[in-house]
Amino acid sequence: MQRLILPLPGNEGFAKRLAALCQGELGAVETRQFPDGESYVRLHGDPRGRAVDIVCTLARPDPRFLSLVYAADTARELGATQVNLIAPYLAYMRQDKRFQEGESISSLSFARLVSSTFDRLLTVDPHLHRHPTLSALYTIPTTTLHAAPRLASWIAANVQSPLIIGPDEESEQWAGSIAERIGAPHVVLRKTRQGDRQVDIQVPDLSAWQDRTPVLVDDIASSGRTLVVAAGKLAGMRPPQCVVVHALFAEDAWSQVSDCFERVVSTDAVPHPSNRIELAPLLANALLRDLRD
Ligand code: R5P
Repeated sequence: MQRLILPLPGNEGFAKRLAALCQGELGAVETRQFPDGESYVRLHGDPRGRAVDIVCTLARPDPRFLSLVYAADTARELGATQVNLIAPYLAYMRQDKRFQEGESISSLSFARLVSSTFDRLLTVDPHLHRHPTLSALYTIPTTTLHAAPRLASWIAANVQSPLIIGPDEESEQWAGSIAERIGAPHVVLRKTRQGDRQVDIQVPDLSAWQDRTPVLVDDIASSGRTLVVAAGKLAGMRPPQCVVVHALFAEDAWSQVSDCFERVVSTDAVPHPSNRIELAPLLANALLRDLRD
């Protein structure tokens, strides 16, 4: 039976591309606020007897999370055989430890809420740092997809003679994999974070790579400080470019980052004017491979 693909508002474009690639039926989720601020949710599409994939990227998750839960519960109540969450960007992965006494480990609480609502989670490049896999947090089956091959293809097709640069040790996984795929050199910088918007970055001697175009690659651009500070340390090199997976670009981050680079591109995991790399084919393959009825 054809799967029903239901985008939360703001995810229609991604869901449409996904539905076309996996021959799913595209439905809709209507949401609005009641006058008292509570959320109203209505599904358009019949979930009865079939798998339902709710598409909702989780950038800025707090205002839409309850609607997402209500949509999933409604799909189940109306007879869906399974209710999956397709979240190209998965939120609350960075507060994975009590850094200071009394802090919430929100990645654990968020995982508990999602695990109690959905049957399965599919996502792309979740920020796994202190936890090696999503199964350390989530009790439902999860599928973790990687954008690196698509980033690598974009760089190979669009940047001549690149030097792939990861701005911190955590980015080795993306930088190394992209560089290997396209046969380019890569270096990884060292970052120390002092606060949400304060980072310091140490850069090794890059003089051997002055004839190459520096391409910074990272999983997330949030405050943008990582990218801005890293770009500032590349004096003497060709104008840098930047490719990120999750274009959160909080507050004025986009104007700051775009001023520092010749070009900034991102995947469509989070809708943003910098989106150039489509991820629907990755998710569609995973759905067709893993979640056949
Ligand atoms: C950090 O560990 C991540 O890989 C990113 O470098 C980080 O989340 C970027 O954050 P911001 O844009 O706020 O510097």
